[in-house]
Amino acid sequence: MKRLLALPFVLLPLLFLALAGQPFPDDEPTGVVRDATGAPLPGVLVTALRADSVVAVTVVTDTEGRYVLPSLPDGAYHGRAHRIGYKPSASVPLAAEQDFVLTSEENVFDQMPSSAFLGLLPDGEDKRHFVLDCAGCHQFDQKQITLDGKLRARDSWLQRTNQMLSFAGAHTGFPVISPSRDAEKTTEWLLAHVGGPDDPLPAFTPPPPMTGEDANVVITEYDLPVPYDLPHDLLPDAEGQILITGMMTAQMYRLNPATGHFATVPIPVQHAGPRALDLGPYGRWWVLLGNPRQIGVYDPAEETWAMHDIGMYPHSIKLDDAGRVWFNGHFTKEPELIGYLDAATGEVTTYEVPTPPMPDGGTTMPYGLRIDAEGTLWATQLIGNRLIKFVPKTEAFTLYELPTPVSGPRRPAIGPDGAVWIPQFAANKLARFDPATETFTEYPLPLPDALPYVVRVDPRTGVVWIATAGADAVLRFDPATERFFVHRLPTQKALVRHMELDATGAAWVAYGNSPATDPKIARLEIRD
Ligand code: HEC
Repeated sequence: MKRLLALPFVLLPLLFLALAGQPFPDDEPTGVVRDATGAPLPGVLVTALRADSVVAVTVVTDTEGRYVLPSLPDGAYHGRAHRIGYKPSASVPLAAEQDFVLTSEENVFDQMPSSAFLGLLPDGEDKRHFVLDCAGCHQFDQKQITLDGKLRARDSWLQRTNQMLSFAGAHTGFPVISPSRDAEKTTEWLLAHVGGPDDPLPAFTPPPPMTGEDANVVITEYDLPVPYDLPHDLLPDAEGQILITGMMTAQMYRLNPATGHFATVPIPVQHAGPRALDLGPYGRWWVLLGNPRQIGVYDPAEETWAMHDIGMYPHSIKLDDAGRVWFNGHFTKEPELIGYLDAATGEVTTYEVPTPPMPDGGTTMPYGLRIDAEGTLWATQLIGNRLIKFVPKTEAFTLYELPTPVSGPRRPAIGPDGAVWIPQFAANKLARFDPATETFTEYPLPLPDALPYVVRVDPRTGVVWIATAGADAVLRFDPATERFFVHRLPTQKALVRHMELDATGAAWVAYGNSPATDPKIARLEIRD
């Protein structure tokens, strides 16, 4: 009897959903967003969320407050409008013509990106060290600086910092924090600049809304099916599906962008910790496995894995035209190594990077790795602050120090003219290295404390995409005009670790916090 009574309550909403949000595949849902006075609001993000909550498509309102969604894949959708400085609208079944009204939000503390909180800390080398040590796994944000609604107290900072040092300090198995990091000093420095539980929460001003070309973007987000996973790297395959490494679950995902379906492929190694990946001949996936110090190669046709020992915890991977699978060390720092696996024989060859000792007695941290059109390798030292050039034919290394000390160069890319573009994570700049003149040019980002993590260059236009770990934003830089564009992401805490461009020129990014916060894969397309 009970069950029968409950039935209408289950069925009615389903029926409503089915009718209200019924697909309009050929339409482009549109509408206007206004504030409480009726004035049109530019720069509002309007998100269409599919009923299964896996796919969300976001566009931005123009100066008239109007938005136009692209025609959406089949399914029922809800719509929601949001912009920092306003209370997000209720989520409503999306009609072909759908307006929204937003009321302002006085207290924007909970809406601000990590960059606002990093802005509380004074710029300089101490801050750049802190960013490298403490803003790489997770963001420095509301969750870090508060406890029970108040600014974190001394004992809590001390306890947390010691906890971080205990599993990620210089002498642990996951040594990402520098040996000079001291819990007491860090605590005092944070209290001095952020405040403590007796102080009020800091007040922030909302960032300016996106307008003009910044707003000319369609962002499609896909929820990773495992909410505690860390999507580390991604790569579009030949069919336009997106391959993703699941670092925490030791599995691969293959996302079908048309349906939002994630297929999974387990990696048959305990604690594999998959990181970077590249594609090789026959569509094979070459995947770096951190903990087991291996490279795994997966044959999608046969659905089989083969594992190769490489004898180090690697960071980046890149195949060259000669069948060599290049990688660099990451936690194998003394000596710093670059090497390759011969794809045909499985033989591993390594080279010692002739790097000078670090001033603090620590070691460098090898990071990004790319290969240019001539087959020259370009690698970065995240700790060590250098760009490394290696010519396989002559086995010659050249090391270049970046102009800003402790700038944190992460994942570089090579432009169509051979220039090397480098995101300076801790210095908040984009650097261009010209191999011909052997000089760097640095461009400060237009967003403070954005933490640029990875860059990719569109081979057709030379435009540089910059994904950030701290600003919930992806930027573009046009070298021809030296102009930046800022595209804000619809999701908070979008720590982007990796980005690749697909054949259409769209950018794919993965939001990978550790501990996980809302892991997503997102595509950014620029509208004409
Ligand atoms: C290797 C990755 C990593 C690094 C580097 C790291 N953290 Fe963490 N941090 C974590 C993880 C994982 C957790 C969650 C731990 C838990 O649940 O107890 C965490 C939690 C925290 C928290 C608690 C947040 C909350 O939810 O209450 C604070 C504060 C924090 N970290 C500060 C720091 C500081 C300061 C540094 C630099 C010294 C740092 N972290 C460096 C991974 C890291």
